[in-house]
Amino acid sequence: MTGENADGGGEAGEGSHDHGDVRYLDAKQSVDERAVNRRVRERLLTALPDAPRVFDAGCGTGVALRRLREWGVSPRAYHGVDADPALIAEARDRHSNEGRSSLPGDSDPASTRGDDSTSVSFAVADALAAARRLRDSVGDDATLDGQPDLVVAGSFLDLVSVREALELFTDVTAPGGLVYAPFTFDGTTAFTPSHPADEVVERAYHREIDSTPGRDTRAGRRALSILDGADGDLLAVGSSDWIVRARADGGDRLYPADEGYFLDCILGFVADALFVDSDDATTSALTTTARTAVDAADGVGPSAVRDWLVTRRQQLRDGELCYLAHQLDLLYRAPPES
Ligand SMILES: C[S@@+](CC[C@H](N)C(=O)[O-])C[C@H]1O[C@@H](n2cnc3c(N)ncnc32)[C@H](O)[C@@H]1O
Repeated sequence: MTGENADGGGEAGEGSHDHGDVRYLDAKQSVDERAVNRRVRERLLTALPDAPRVFDAGCGTGVALRRLREWGVSPRAYHGVDADPALIAEARDRHSNEGRSSLPGDSDPASTRGDDSTSVSFAVADALAAARRLRDSVGDDATLDGQPDLVVAGSFLDLVSVREALELFTDVTAPGGLVYAPFTFDGTTAFTPSHPADEVVERAYHREIDSTPGRDTRAGRRALSILDGADGDLLAVGSSDWIVRARADGGDRLYPADEGYFLDCILGFVADALFVDSDDATTSALTTTARTAVDAADGVGPSAVRDWLVTRRQQLRDGELCYLAHQLDLLYRAPPES
């Protein structure tokens, strides 16, 4: 068994697979903390100025602010932007003692200073549009009181147009400012133990993601190539693969923290990409993308794909499922003022 998650302690269940689910983002934190690339992080900490202004694109619940502080960074100002109003409400709740939050259109978007003298604000907005506004009002932005010294985009670049996002983020930073993009998905999803439908499932899953406008399963390597060819310096890049597995505990196999729930969500994302109806083993239950992948495969039919999901869910309950996703952490420094 997997401990409290699969024991009735609250699996995501079929039909609730949402990258913006607060519990999913919380469950992801212990996975991220194991995965973060230490070398890239050290380079970030060396390159950051004292008391930086931070713009957090796709901030979720504002975890980057907590993490920066744990790493010894005390931002002068932090502005988190997310498209999901529920996440911004949660972020404001969690950081409510640290400053007033702002909404686009607020007559006075300025934030107050918290005890640690960080000015904290959050906004519900498209992060690319917010970066564009920030860039176009250089020098008089009330929220950060200037251009950001650091743009953070954690687990974000695969959800938007990588090129457009990086052009904006590198443009909006102060001269010599930094763009830090940890946990950028880079095109490998793997599960063990192996199953005959693994290749078809991974192909269908990635094609379904890539067919969503703006999304890109190879965001990591695209970002690497874009930043490597940009005018500033790609200071550091390294892998930050997610690896989730259970450990033996007495007679049980337990996933750490809430990682059983995290894995259940990942299976939910895959199931959504594969099935219109995951209880149906016929071809018509598959999404068009999954049907194309099955048609192109030798000897793997719709029932094998359905068996893949049923088997993976059982392995999760038994604590036997391991998951690996390849990701990159990237750190770029914009050119200094000329
Ligand atoms: C996988 S979560 C990562 C959240 C947070 N950065 C973290 O590492 O925990 C991606 C976040 O990006 C947000 N998002 C996706 N597209 C967005 C966009 N165009 N503008 C702003 N937020 C966006 C989602 O709502 C979600 O909160």
